[in-house]
Amino acid sequence: MFCHLNYQVNKKELRDHFWSGYEKGRWHRFRPPQMIWWKWTFDPPFEPIIQNIVNDMGLQDMNVKPRYSYQFPNTRLPEHLDFDNLIGINLNIMEETTPDIHLRGVCFPYEAALVDVGHVGHSVESVPYNRLILKFAIREPFSKIYNALETRGFIDKDATREVNPDFETYKSEITDFEKKYQSNKYLRNQLSQYDRQGNTINKSEIKFR
Ligand SMILES: [Fe+2]
Repeated sequence: MFCHLNYQVNKKELRDHFWSGYEKGRWHRFRPPQMIWWKWTFDPPFEPIIQNIVNDMGLQDMNVKPRYSYQFPNTRLPEHLDFDNLIGINLNIMEETTPDIHLRGVCFPYEAALVDVGHVGHSVESVPYNRLILKFAIREPFSKIYNALETRGFIDKDATREVNPDFETYKSEITDFEKKYQSNKYLRNQLSQYDRQGNTINKSEIKFR
């Protein structure tokens, strides 16, 4: 469900790319929009800076949707499954902070990770700093993506074993407990409760950087 990757990117180049075009992005797709995180997604043909990473990782023949994801400080994303049971590859492109994801309640900090976000309930807990990642949302089986990365030596097995010892026998399946997350309205309801608690940031406080 979680594997560290030993894949490195040029973070500054990617951050500059994000800042050069982030206005083409939008708030995440919730209705009404929740001012928690901002996405800039890409449709093919991808710009070389993105396509080169897709090729490097051996994902070029897969259904891959890359996106930058900028999550504002002091925001929390409640437990959910990603849409379409997709699989994520998340790359941190911030220099001094490390993002993390909570999978079934366990915190996994990462620089670069393969995460089964479509089958494992997860949340992103509040931290006082912003997070900027380049995420590849992949609509393919977990094992197919794992194998592509493993063939290229990008699965960091030693680091993964320390936090997730069973990763080599992992089966990508939704548990009965997690089926509730599949309801379309589940996350929306969670977020609107969160809104009512007054925890979301004030619109006037929204500032990138
Ligand atoms: Fe997610």
